[in-house]
Order: sequence, then C-alpha cells, then structure tokens
Amino acid sequence: MLNEKVARLINEQVNKELYSGYLYLDFANYYADEGLDGFANWYEIQALEERDHAMMMRRYLLDNGVRVTFGEIAKPDKVFKKLSDPLDAGYEHEQYVTSLINAIYKEAFAINDFKTMQFLDWFIKEQGEEEKNAEDMVKKMKLFGNDAKGLYSLNQELAGRVYAPSATGPAM
Ligand code: FEO
Repeated sequence: MLNEKVARLINEQVNKELYSGYLYLDFANYYADEGLDGFANWYEIQALEERDHAMMMRRYLLDNGVRVTFGEIAKPDKVFKKLSDPLDAGYEHEQYVTSLINAIYKEAFAINDFKTMQFLDWFIKEQGEEEKNAEDMVKKMKLFGNDAKGLYSLNQELAGRVYAPSATGPAM
C-alpha cells in the first residue's frame, strides 16, 4: 500500500501528464495551421509520450492498490505570436514538470518509500532528456529559424521523428 500523500501526488501527476499531452497537441495545431507539418509532427509525438507517462503512473497506482481518480484537464491557454513561442513555452513547461516529479521524489524519499523512488527514477532520467530536447529545439530555432531555408530544413528534420512507446518504463 502506498503512502496517502505519495499516492495523491502521483494521481495528480497523471492529470498533469495528460494536460502536457493536451498542451503539446495544441502546439501541433498551431504549427499545422502555420504550414509547418514537421513541427506539428514533433509535438503530436510528444503528446503521445505524455499520454504514456500518464498511463505508466496510473498503472503504478493500480498495481499498488490505489483507486485512481480523474479531474478535469485544463484548457491549453497559450497565445502564440511567433513561430518560436511554442518552443519557448515547451522548454518552460518541461522545467515545471521536472519540478513536479522532483517534489514527488522528495516526498517518497522523506518516508523511505524506496519502491516509489525506484519507480520515479525512470521519470527523473526522462525529464533530463525532455528538458534537453526542448532546449535544443529553442537553440536550433534561434540559429536557423529566421531564414526560410533554415526553417524549411528544420521542419524536414522534425518531420522525421517517429513514435516509440515508452514500454521501457519502470518495471511495475
Ligand atoms: Fe511527461 Fe514531458 O514530461
């Protein structure tokens, strides 16, 4: 049985991961509308990964006897004025998500919940990668995004991203 507070935080994180997916799908909507299908593809896949994260957390709770409950998923409310705006917002969002995962880890650590710490290890590593990916996107856009040819190439590169389910997540 999981500690009540740890279980609640993970349950809340399920909602936040689903929101992340919703947010990134909103980014994809914006880019699709701007004619940048490669950028849209990148964020569509990111949205699928976020759903995977939510599913992994949900499964962990279920496997530990926790009744999972769902709340409302907030409406994405970002307004984009230029093509780099979603990238900046994405980087900021991932840093926020890292802080949430760290907060759950801290709680588990405080009560010697080693099982949950081990479960969260995968997410700690994943957040490192997600922050790096998001930061790379910001950097690339700054370097190449102001020129039509550079933007075209970047769009082509991002079109190449393929979805790989997060099946390598923590053993549950
Ligand atoms: Fe589930 Fe992008 O962190």
